[in-house]
Amino acid sequence: MQTTETISALRNEINLWRQQGLKIAFVPTMGNLHQGHIALVEKAKMLADKVVASIFVNPMQFGANEDIGSYPRTMAADQEKLKAAGCDLLFTPTPAIIYPKGLDKQSYVEVPNVSDGYCGESRPGHFRGVATVVCKLFNIVQPNIACFGLKDYQQVQVIQTMVEDLSMPIEIIAVETVREASGLALSSRNNYLTPEEKQTAPALSQNIQWLAKAIQSDSDFIGLAKQAASYIDNAGMKTDYIHICHARTLQPASEDDKELVILAAAHCGKARLIDNLQVTLT
Ligand code: PAF
Repeated sequence: MQTTETISALRNEINLWRQQGLKIAFVPTMGNLHQGHIALVEKAKMLADKVVASIFVNPMQFGANEDIGSYPRTMAADQEKLKAAGCDLLFTPTPAIIYPKGLDKQSYVEVPNVSDGYCGESRPGHFRGVATVVCKLFNIVQPNIACFGLKDYQQVQVIQTMVEDLSMPIEIIAVETVREASGLALSSRNNYLTPEEKQTAPALSQNIQWLAKAIQSDSDFIGLAKQAASYIDNAGMKTDYIHICHARTLQPASEDDKELVILAAAHCGKARLIDNLQVTLT
């Protein structure tokens, strides 16, 4: 596996592959890779001839009081994991390469509606930062397909909407969340959990599961979501939000909607954890 920091070296390599008619898959990441990321690389390998990954802790998607400084950076271990998973090329740009004029003078991509609530509300500007960096990375790599984890369900909808709205010729592949045996979704932010908090954190996925069952026989979505939030709080976490939404538009679900998603975020100690579950009402 080759690693490059520069856009020109990356493009030279990818152009050679494109001239040979090879199909290119892209897996953007912020590093500190776990099995959830490796599942993306494995899916990419199944669907394409060459896999390009990127590691870039994107300053534009972090708020002023967020954890960009302490976000775990584990480049050498990440390189080993990507190599073992069969990644062909790794792009590791610096902020100066991605944002040469600085963040203030950078053009940006704003995806309306799907970016607005939930994590968009709790983390103002977050999805603008995600859409902008993913758009830039797509323009740099120009992949045929790109893989994203469904743990970040709202992010997947933001990127899918961007690709459709801006007619980007890229297929977005959404890959199932990888979980620990306890049900806890794998996340780089699980590193912030103490051993005690690690016992508490599965309450998030457990209560989402509870809510998914409850809405099959009761259409009081708002009341049930409030109940789930209090269960999460009683378990020792602090619910940021838990909502039952239309699976594609992410608008609050109405009684007639059948394809739904439960979106949730909660604080557990220093970690802000997110999770979700798609539900089809039968
Ligand atoms: O999901 C992530 O790790 C990031 O939001 C992404 C898509 C790599 C953009 O920085």
